[in-house]
Amino acid sequence: MILKDLILKTRSYRRFDESHRIDITTLENLVELARLSASAANRQPLKYLLYTTPEECNRIYPSIAWAGYLNEWTGPEPGERPSAYIIILGDKAITGSFSFDPGIAAQSIMLGATEEGLGGCMIASIEREDLRNELKIPDRFEIVLILALGKPVEKVVIEDIREGDFNYWRDEGNVHHVPKRKLNELIIKL
Ligand SMILES: Cc1cc2nc3c(=O)[nH]c(=O)nc-3n(C[C@H](O)[C@H](O)[C@H](O)COP(=O)(O)O)c2cc1C
Repeated sequence: MILKDLILKTRSYRRFDESHRIDITTLENLVELARLSASAANRQPLKYLLYTTPEECNRIYPSIAWAGYLNEWTGPEPGERPSAYIIILGDKAITGSFSFDPGIAAQSIMLGATEEGLGGCMIASIEREDLRNELKIPDRFEIVLILALGKPVEKVVIEDIREGDFNYWRDEGNVHHVPKRKLNELIIKL
């Protein structure tokens, strides 16, 4: 896949075929992509927790919030929930500032997931203390971002933004629409 196609396909997916399980080696290979990515001052302060079993996934799901703009939708139903999670932690023993590293690592992982025929969603809206208690994550680690992964079963389309409305939305056929600003709005001249 050429890079633009890979990026186009790497959408935020929130509904999955939960019966399609993901093995731990697949997650390790995705973290390897993050390991090889850029890091501010090359400090590499991020650590990763990997979860693949239904039992583990059930412990994580209650701590995350889905699609804030879809008011009527509280998240994927059983059967359509993620089948794996990567939790990105910041190791405060290395630095107190994780800079842009989490975003770079997350995008590397999501691109790799697409290449593997998977998909997912970056989740920053997290009940962090609940999750810390549930998974017994030591205070040394900041919970930065969760990557929810699975085999997507939803269609996501990109469209040009209309009248500045950046809210994503779903149509009657459950197709998820993501408005994107046009290039000439992004590249400015002073
Ligand atoms: C840093 C970050 C945090 C996000 N947190 C959440 C989240 O908590 N819940 C959620 O459903 N989506 C979350 N998203 C997904 C965004 O809503 C999504 O990227 C946006 O709607 C654009 O869609 P696209 O990724 O398909 O381009 C997050 C995305 C990013 C980059």
